[in-house]
Amino acid sequence: MNKKLLLHTKGLTKDYVNGDIVTNVLKGVDFEVHEGEFIAIMGHSGSGKSTLMHILGFLDTPTTGEYVFEGEDTTLFDENKLAEIRNKKIGFVFQAFNLLKRTSALENVKLPMIYAGIEDEEEKERRAREALKAVGLGDKLDNKSNELSGGQQQRVAIARALINKPRLIFADEPTGNLDSTSSKEIMEIFRDLHKEGNTIIIVTHETDIAAYAERTIRMDDGVIK
Ligand SMILES: Nc1ncnc2c1ncn2[C@@H]1O[C@H](COP(=O)(O)OP(=O)(O)O)[C@@H](O)[C@H]1O
Ligand SMILES: [Mg+2]
Repeated sequence: MNKKLLLHTKGLTKDYVNGDIVTNVLKGVDFEVHEGEFIAIMGHSGSGKSTLMHILGFLDTPTTGEYVFEGEDTTLFDENKLAEIRNKKIGFVFQAFNLLKRTSALENVKLPMIYAGIEDEEEKERRAREALKAVGLGDKLDNKSNELSGGQQQRVAIARALINKPRLIFADEPTGNLDSTSSKEIMEIFRDLHKEGNTIIIVTHETDIAAYAERTIRMDDGVIK
């Protein structure tokens, strides 16, 4: 493989501390992601998949270890820098969609552009419409999220995750709440995004979902096997 290294971790650990109880959730993760890869992470519930994804996506920070993103040591980043990367370079898709309720598809997709500081209203409107058309929801722009099916809500969430053209897209069990037909539709969207050159990391329990990825890694009790 001749692709550029996008990120790597070395000896990454994460402890959760609750009172006197310390839980070692990540126990030394060494991991590399190259530009354009489509990776599936599998593993038992509680093995640390979501924790790893949250750290790699700058929603959380590691306890110890190295995390280098685009050649920069992320452990030196302050809150502002972390928020900026999170908003501009990372797209997240969650199992439970996490859309704003009683808010239109269009407004949900515009939100990350607001966080990224884009002020031009016409540009936001145009880009949000295009992103929703690209996931097949051109006729649902004004529907509120509670007026959409699960599969449609997840497509809005994908459009939202992509709107700032992130360097890396994370999807944490994106088909976990969907029937098999919608799951297939969602995975076909990820497959097409990968073909267009996007870098995607997906967590799943299901081997037929993982089969859409190029590379599958397994987490077991806080380490990658
Ligand atoms: N905020 C937290 N405080 C304490 N323990 C946590 C917290 N978040 C996750 N954990 C624990 O960390 C372990 C790994 O969780 P998680 O990364 O969500 O695993 P997975 O996504 O593989 O199911 C679990 O045992 C979970 O209970
Ligand atoms: Mg999880």
